[in-house]
Amino acid sequence: MANGLDDVVAADTVLSDVDGAGGHLTIRGHSLAELAGRWRFGQVVHLLFDGFFDELPGDSELEQAIGKARVEVFERLQPILGQLAPLDIYSAVRAGIALLPDGEALADALRLIAAPAVLTPALLRLGRGEKPLPPDASADHASDMLRMLGGTASPALAKALDTYLVTVCDHGLNASTFATRVVASTQAGLTSAILAGLGALKGPLHGGAPGPVIEMLDAIEASGDAAAWLRDEIARGGRIMGFGHRIYRVRDPRADVLKAVVRQLGSSNQTGSRLAFAERVEQAALDVLRVAKPQRSIQTNVEFYTALLLEAAGFPKEAFSNVFAAGRVAGWIAHTREQQATGRLIRPQSRYVGPVPDLVA
Ligand code: CMC
Repeated sequence: MANGLDDVVAADTVLSDVDGAGGHLTIRGHSLAELAGRWRFGQVVHLLFDGFFDELPGDSELEQAIGKARVEVFERLQPILGQLAPLDIYSAVRAGIALLPDGEALADALRLIAAPAVLTPALLRLGRGEKPLPPDASADHASDMLRMLGGTASPALAKALDTYLVTVCDHGLNASTFATRVVASTQAGLTSAILAGLGALKGPLHGGAPGPVIEMLDAIEASGDAAAWLRDEIARGGRIMGFGHRIYRVRDPRADVLKAVVRQLGSSNQTGSRLAFAERVEQAALDVLRVAKPQRSIQTNVEFYTALLLEAAGFPKEAFSNVFAAGRVAGWIAHTREQQATGRLIRPQSRYVGPVPDLVA
C-alpha cells in the first residue's frame, strides 16, 4: 500500500471533483471557469453550505451574516490580539481560532469563515505597529479584508481577492480537507475540525507553498540565471515550489484562472513586470522539470500564481497561507457536515511491521 494513500477513495462527496487527467475542477456542479470572477465568495459559501445547514438563509442574507460574523469575531478576540501578535502570523491566527466555541450551528460556521479574514489583517497591522481596523459588516468579504489590511480597497484588488477566495474554496479530498473530515467524524465540533485543517494546510507540500514561491522568485532574480538555479535546486534534492501535484498530471486549472487575474491587475505597473518575470521562471521550471523528472508530468500548480496575486494584493509572503485558509475554510466546513451526515467514524487500519514480543509461557 502506498504511504500517501494514492488512489484510495475515502469519501463520497457532492462538493467538488478534481479531474487530474483532464485538468478540470468542478464545485457542486459548476466548473471553476463558471464560478471564478463571476460568483462572489459569499455566493460560493452558500453553494457549498446548501443542504448542510437547516437554517441557511438566501445568498445575500448569508453574505450579510458573514459580515456580522466578522464584527463578532473582531469584538470577541480584539482583547487578546496583543498576546497573539508575537507569534508567527499563521500560528497567531490558528491560536485565535482555537478560542472560538466548538459548536455545530451556522453561527459557529460563519465565525470560522470570518476569523482568518479578520485576524490576519488585524495581526499584520499590529505587527507593523498600526492599530487594527474593525470590520465593516456591510462590505463584501474580500473588500473588507483588504480594507482592514491597508485602510482602503481598490475595486480591482477586491475583485482579484474575491476571485482567489472562490478559486481555492474547495478541492476534493486534499490533505487538509481529509484532516477536517477525520476530526469531524469523531463529532469533536467544527472548531476542532477546522484547526486540524489549518494544521495540515500549513505545510509547504500543501498550502504553505506560495510564500516559498516568492523566496524562489527573489533568489532566481538575484542569481540572474533561472535555469541554472532551478537545476541546482533539483540536484540538491529540493522541490520547485508551485509545481507538481498529487492528482493533476496536466496544468492545475486554478493556475490559469489566477494568472489571468494577475494579468488584469498588472497591465502597466510593477505587477506587470513581476508577472513577466514569473512567466519566464515558469517556462524555465517546466523545461528543467521535464528533463530532470522525465518519468513524471510535473506542471504548474495553484500556488505559483497565488503568490503573485497575494503579493499584488499587498499581503506579505508570511501571510499567504492565512489567505488560502480564508478561502478554504468554506470547503472544510461543508466537508465536515457531509462527513457527519454519514454517521461513520473514520478509522482505518495500519499493518504492524514492528518487532513481535517474546511469547511468555
Ligand atoms: N519539484 C521537483 N521535483 C518534484 C516536484 C517539484 N515541485 N514535484 C514532484 N517532484 C518529483 C519528486 O521529487 C519525485 O521524484 P523522484 O521520483 O525522482 O523521487 C517525483 O516527482 C514524484 O514525487 P511525489 O512526492 O511522489 O509526488 P506527489 O504526488 O506526492 O507530489 C507535491 C505532490 C505537491 C507534494 C509535489 O509536487 C511537491 O512537493 N511540489 C512542490 C510543493 C508545492 O508546490 N506544493 C503545493 C501543492 S498544490 C496546493 C495544494 O492543492 O495543496
